[in-house]
Amino acid sequence: MSAGFQPHVHPWSLDARDYPADAALESRAAFLVRYALLAPSYLNAQPWKFAIEGDEVLVSRDPLRRLPVADPADRELLLGVGAALTNLRVAAARFGLAATVRAEPEGVDLVARVRLSPTGPIERALADLFPSLTARRTDRGELRDEPLGDAQQRILARATACDRAHLRLFTVDPPKAALAQLIYESTVERMADRRYRDERVGWLRPGDGGETDGMASDKAGLGSGGFRTTTWVTRNFNIGETAGMRLAKLARANAALVVPFSGDDAASLLDAGQLMERFVLTATGLGMRCSFFSLPPNVARRPSEILDLMSADGIPQVIFRAGYPKARACRPTPRRPLRDVLVV
Ligand SMILES: Cc1cc2nc3c(=O)[nH]c(=O)nc-3n(C[C@H](O)[C@H](O)[C@H](O)COP(=O)(O)O)c2cc1C
Repeated sequence: MSAGFQPHVHPWSLDARDYPADAALESRAAFLVRYALLAPSYLNAQPWKFAIEGDEVLVSRDPLRRLPVADPADRELLLGVGAALTNLRVAAARFGLAATVRAEPEGVDLVARVRLSPTGPIERALADLFPSLTARRTDRGELRDEPLGDAQQRILARATACDRAHLRLFTVDPPKAALAQLIYESTVERMADRRYRDERVGWLRPGDGGETDGMASDKAGLGSGGFRTTTWVTRNFNIGETAGMRLAKLARANAALVVPFSGDDAASLLDAGQLMERFVLTATGLGMRCSFFSLPPNVARRPSEILDLMSADGIPQVIFRAGYPKARACRPTPRRPLRDVLVV
């Protein structure tokens, strides 16, 4: 790690004025990757790798950062990589580069190529999201139960569809209550699995400022009992019932629950992740915060009254909530340094 690198601070204190506008495209691309790695990922595993080849950024999954128990088919991994793609596209647009994403369905680890071009068309709406890249935080605290205004709804509605995925917003019962129930069931089911709890513990961190990935134990929903207590309790007790009730309660008080729907192939999941992040960045720009509720694969696919209520095409890949925060401060999470994720 480079001297003075603080993983909670440094990755988020990017200054657009440092963009090497006159340097070779490779150097400019490397600068853009700094924004890509600020994307959210399940348990902050940061399951991505980047490489620069000519005018392309190659984006791969990092097989060492998979979660075989929680995410055996890399569904959530690809949502996270899709989010990183959106960040890359937003940063590219801000600095006047068109970014064309091409999914690589045949790749083993390689999932997408992003071609950068100084002459292609720039999507203004993407560039406008740039300030949200460093402002976004996953906020697991209470949100205000305040409905979206018409203007906000109109702005957010622009970020709800793309080629292979779409988002649906749920603002009222009965679907919102049904989704809260689904979150409860998912949590109970996951936490009952000792292997899942062990895997989760492997990604919990003391949160002392030194680590570069994973989730600080005080964000794990067990209060501030400290790292050792949190990991011990998570490993040895099935706290699914309590955790599920707490999450279901959080899921009910907010402006909207949002669900990305898509197919299960890699290209569709990348699209779902891109769209999810576009929505989250748009919401961030409107002063809102989001947090995620992951869905175990079998729960998302189980035919149920809940899915009937949602009556949407495709598979619900994750649920997230969006709303106005009650408490303003929300500290940033760590990231790995650029040199660990970018292969030159
Ligand atoms: C696909 C996906 C699923 C996630 N699922 C959960 C979840 O179930 N519970 C949770 O607290 N956070 C969840 N997160 C949020 C991550 O934990 C969070 O992005 C990560 O810790 C980094 O923090 P940041 O988003 O504040 O940068 C999820 C994120 C993604 C992209």
